[in-house]
Parts: sequence; C-alpha cells; structure tokens
Amino acid sequence: MLDGKNVLVGVTGGIAAYKVADVVSKLKKLNANVKVIMTKAATEFVAPLTFQTLSQNFVYVDMFSEPKTWEVEHISLAQSSDIVLIAPATANIIGKVANGIADDMLTTVIMATNAKVVFAPAMNTNMYLNPIVVENINKLKNLNYEFINPSEGRLACGDYGTGKMAEPIDIVKYIESRLVKDDLKGKKIIVTAGPTMEPLDPVRYMTNFSSGKMGYSLAEEARNRGAEVVLVTGPTNLNIPSGIKAIRVNTTMEMLNAVEEEFDDCHVLIKSAAPLDYRPLVVSKSKIKKDEDTLELKFVKNPDIAMYFGKKKAEKILVGFAAETDNIIEHAKGKLKRKNFDFIVVNDVSREGAGFKTDTNIASIIDKSGDIMEYPLMSKKELANVILDKVAKLLN
Ligand SMILES: Cc1cc2nc3c(=O)[nH]c(=O)nc-3n(C[C@H](O)[C@H](O)[C@H](O)COP(=O)(O)O)c2cc1C
Repeated sequence: MLDGKNVLVGVTGGIAAYKVADVVSKLKKLNANVKVIMTKAATEFVAPLTFQTLSQNFVYVDMFSEPKTWEVEHISLAQSSDIVLIAPATANIIGKVANGIADDMLTTVIMATNAKVVFAPAMNTNMYLNPIVVENINKLKNLNYEFINPSEGRLACGDYGTGKMAEPIDIVKYIESRLVKDDLKGKKIIVTAGPTMEPLDPVRYMTNFSSGKMGYSLAEEARNRGAEVVLVTGPTNLNIPSGIKAIRVNTTMEMLNAVEEEFDDCHVLIKSAAPLDYRPLVVSKSKIKKDEDTLELKFVKNPDIAMYFGKKKAEKILVGFAAETDNIIEHAKGKLKRKNFDFIVVNDVSREGAGFKTDTNIASIIDKSGDIMEYPLMSKKELANVILDKVAKLLN
C-alpha cells in the first residue's frame, strides 16, 4: 500500500495517455495521494477532467494560470512529491528534460524536484530507436533518472516493434517498488512456489491445486523491500514478476536441486511451494493403456525439501508453510520442530477465503517458542508483508 505517499504523474502527448487514467486509478486504490500535470499536447488526447476525477485533485496544465493558492505552484509540487512518474513519456519530453529545457509546468517541476523521476516511454519504434532519443535516454539514465522500458507489440500507428508503453499494472508495481521500505536490501531470499508435477507416462502427470499465488506475492514483496530474490517455481499460470531471478521446475527432485544450487549464499529460504510427496516408482515409457478396469501404480517417497534444508540451514532463516484441514495447530507445531523452521505459516485450507486458489488467506504464524499469532482474512500481498516483517526482524 502507498498510504501517505505523494505521487506526481506527468502525462504527455501520446496515444497511450488514455492508459494512464488506469495508472492513476490503480495508484489511488493503493491509497497514494496523486496529483497530475498534463502537457498541452496531452490534453488533445484525454481531457483534464478525467484525471481530475480519478485523482480527486486539480489537474495542472498552464504554469501561468490563475494561482489556486499563494504558493509558487511548480515549486510546491516539486517539493511535495515522493516520486514523479512521466507516462506516457514522449520523445519530446525526454529530449526536453535531457537538455535542461523548462518551458512548461511539467518540465519546470521536473527541473525543480529532488524526488526520483521515472519515465515510461511510449512512441513509434523509429522514434524510440532514433539515435537522438537513444542518446537522450542514456544521458538521463546516467543522471539517475529511471526508465520503465516499453515493450514490443502492435503500436497505435499500426507498426509492429518496440515502443508500446509498459502495462499500467507493471508501471504501478514499479512505482510501488520504489516507494516502499528497503529493509531487506543486501539479503538474498529464495522463495519456492506453486505445485510440483510428476509424470506418469509421456502424456499424463499428477500434481495438486497449489496456484503459486502466495509464493509469487512473497517474491514480489521481498523484491519491493530491496531483497535479491530467487523464485523457484513449479508450473503455474502466473507471470514472473520483473526484477526477480526465476527458476522453473517440474518435479520435486528438480525443485530440491534448484534450491540447492542457490542455497549457500542465501540468507532466507521461504518454502511456500506444495511439492508432491510421492512420485511413481516407474514412469511408463509408453502411454498407459486403458485395457483394465482398475489400474495400480506404485509410488515412492520424494525427498522432503524442507527437512533437507532444515538440517543444513545453520544461521539461515527457514520459513515453512502448512496447509491443513484438521488438527491444524498440532500438525503445524510438529512440522515446525521436525523441519527446524524459524516459524511456520499455517492456513486452514478448508475455510472460505483461505488456501490455494484464492487471492486472500487466513493464517496463523507459530514461532519456535510456541507463540501463536492469529491473523484475520487478508490479501496474499498483505500476508506476504506480515511474513517479511517477521523475517526482517529475525535478520536484525
Ligand atoms: C495522433 C498522435 C499521436 C502521437 N503519439 C505520440 C507518441 O506515442 N509518442 C510520442 O513521443 N509522440 C507522439 N506524438 C507526437 C507528440 O504529441 C508531439 O511530439 C508533442 O509535441 C509532444 O508534446 P509533449 O511532450 O509536450 O506532450 C503524437 C502525435 C499525434 C498527433
């Protein structure tokens, strides 16, 4: 969440200006205070009233319009902002800022601010690849201005190539990552996520209902708080968050090996995956035929990843998860001890709003001393931060 954070959004004259309405709306939903400055060209694409309504604030366009207060508006806007986002950023605004031009409200505020300034460029591919634009971007990067790179795709002009503004959700996530605390900076955190799957024959496999959402939220929030994050993920339908090293695996053995590769220099291992406990004794080389009325398969136990790393963890912090349906606390306490976790996050997956597929969770956390903290229904993102608060405390 961005409670109390002041985000200044500069909208410039590109087609993607309409998408920035969504950026402003999403920032407001995160409780940020949002103010918007539009260039004159931007008002040709979207009416200021749209941004005024979404931001619930006056929209600034003209530097010399009748002042709303006795403050010098461009200076007070520059000073009160925690971050300035320019989206879409035209070739023109990039060129103007790179060359010290301050001839309207937006460029003057950018010149006057000490806040972080982030550009989300959007333009035709030839414009984006024009050596002048490339040089201007490099110059700004060297001066610590930040860029959210545009993606490749079909552009509004009909061309195909690089220059499509990053998606609103990714822009908002980037802004969030620049504004929240960095108490995990310098720490390497491995997060395992999702289910594993074990092949039965060339066309079949078994798996479980884990969606990976909790692990991906943890990875994303740990990144936002400054950690170097390695996400070891089983098969999921989720997008890998940017700025995270992802290792995709299928089987439980592959998950164990991937964690092993990264384990030595990590500080924290969060085991939020749901790896399969068993695998078939034999994976049939050819498709199993449906000739018989019943089918018997023999399974062997997979290694217990949590137990394995619990034995070799030394000073590292190990966080476990337990998804239980009965005798929840008792089972979790046993698991915490057996696997040498520093603490365990327990969900009653039979409760509405908790468990695998939802965006929310209802959890309790049990630590080594046996203390139990119970939490109400919250989003997996909120729960991720509760867990990381505990990790940060242990690291200190
Ligand atoms: C229909 C239309 C679409 C445009 N789209 C873009 C764009 O996506 N990116 C860009 O850099 N310029 C684009 N331009 C050109 C800018 O609007 C122009 O360079 C303008 O001077 C930018 O002013 P500003 O940077 O002060 O907003 C577009 C122009 C028109 C007419």
